Amino acid sequence: MNCLQEKNDALFMDNVRLADIAAQAGTPTYVYSAANIRGQYEALTKALCDHLPANRQPLICYACKANSHLAILSILQKCGSAIEAVSEGELRRAIKAGFAPEKIVSEGVGKTAEEIKLGLTHNIHQFNVESLGELRLISEIATSLGKTASVIFRVNPDIGGGANDQITTGRKQDKFGMPLARVMEAYQLAGTLSGIDAKGIHAHIGSQVSEAASFEALFSKLSAMTADIRHAGHKVSRIDIGGGFPIRYRDEKLLDLATYAQLVNKFIVPLETEIIIEPGRYFVGNSGILLAKILYTKRGEDRNFLILDAGMQTLVRPAMYGAWHDIQPVENLSRALQNYDIAGPICESADMFGRDYTLPEMRAGEIAVIKSAGAYGMCMASSYNSHLLPAEVLVNNGSFEIIRPRQSYDALFANEIIPATL
Ligand code: LLP
Repeated sequence: MNCLQEKNDALFMDNVRLADIAAQAGTPTYVYSAANIRGQYEALTKALCDHLPANRQPLICYACKANSHLAILSILQKCGSAIEAVSEGELRRAIKAGFAPEKIVSEGVGKTAEEIKLGLTHNIHQFNVESLGELRLISEIATSLGKTASVIFRVNPDIGGGANDQITTGRKQDKFGMPLARVMEAYQLAGTLSGIDAKGIHAHIGSQVSEAASFEALFSKLSAMTADIRHAGHKVSRIDIGGGFPIRYRDEKLLDLATYAQLVNKFIVPLETEIIIEPGRYFVGNSGILLAKILYTKRGEDRNFLILDAGMQTLVRPAMYGAWHDIQPVENLSRALQNYDIAGPICESADMFGRDYTLPEMRAGEIAVIKSAGAYGMCMASSYNSHLLPAEVLVNNGSFEIIRPRQSYDALFANEIIPATL
């Protein structure tokens, strides 16, 4: 991770000592590097500028499901990013963070009437439509508001691409998108409905897609589908090629930005449409870490356990997807190496970060860093076992600030009602 530096036997994020953050904010705490997020944005725009013509630069829509904290949204908004929102809550966040309406895209397989109404009232850029039922509902609401909704249709290309089964979205058995025949039907239906301007197509095949071949297969299929749709007399003036650009968690061999941009240039640019991309993890994944305290060290029959105060309630990715996150102490990095199985405090055997970590010896009370936790970390955290939601900290310009205090027990119980009749 570029934003972490090792100095004098300790770890720093952009020159701020991680132990100092833990001492002030407590643990577990997510910490983000504003500089790293900006750096990722710049690297992506540079690769796109280098490899794509000036008049075909994609609209970069940050998929804010990856990390929707308003401060993170604000950083990306100031970088010039647009945003993709998949719920009424995310739409409200996008508006609150100051994204201009023409920079907001509404996505999601289960949009509610309230969400559609909110999007239309704010004149957002487009709705990525997933079903004929959704198209009818958008038409109904748009007509009642006297608006015209720009829509594009999410196709299901029957191409898988994610790092694992749970984050692969483009196969025909997946719930996302529509087969080409249904998209044709959607275009026809759109022609008969009021309040709809059907502008193009969209696909997203999965997350953490590290094989260039998967993107190549997708882009070439989108190109062929565009030809078929145009041949049938419909308009394709916008193509949203989704997200899924991968990051390094461990030692994975990854797709590089130049290769990705060249594929866009080869297959999508010649279609002469507006282009939209929706990266999420790429901006924030390696820009964030999780700080946790070692509550106990413990010897099993033949294992050495570290029990942390962070667990599957804080970062669910290891328990949910078998995902790997590097873990290291934040101080005393030159101690002798030990083998550890690292676990959280939750009463479930699934609550493991992983087995057979080799790291400098750690003692109870010391702080560990769980790396690459900026994407799908805090936004998937829960209060399972009645743990408090973690705090969040932003490192910016050489200092840090708490951007979300740890939840309080009052807040944890606030919405629970014991009926008087009990
Ligand atoms: N566009 C659509 C339509 C998506 O469904 C997603 C992610 C993205 C863009 C952004 O994908 P990214 O660039 O972040 O790969 N919780 C899982 C990942 C779920 C991804 C859901 N959709 C994880 O922790 O790995």
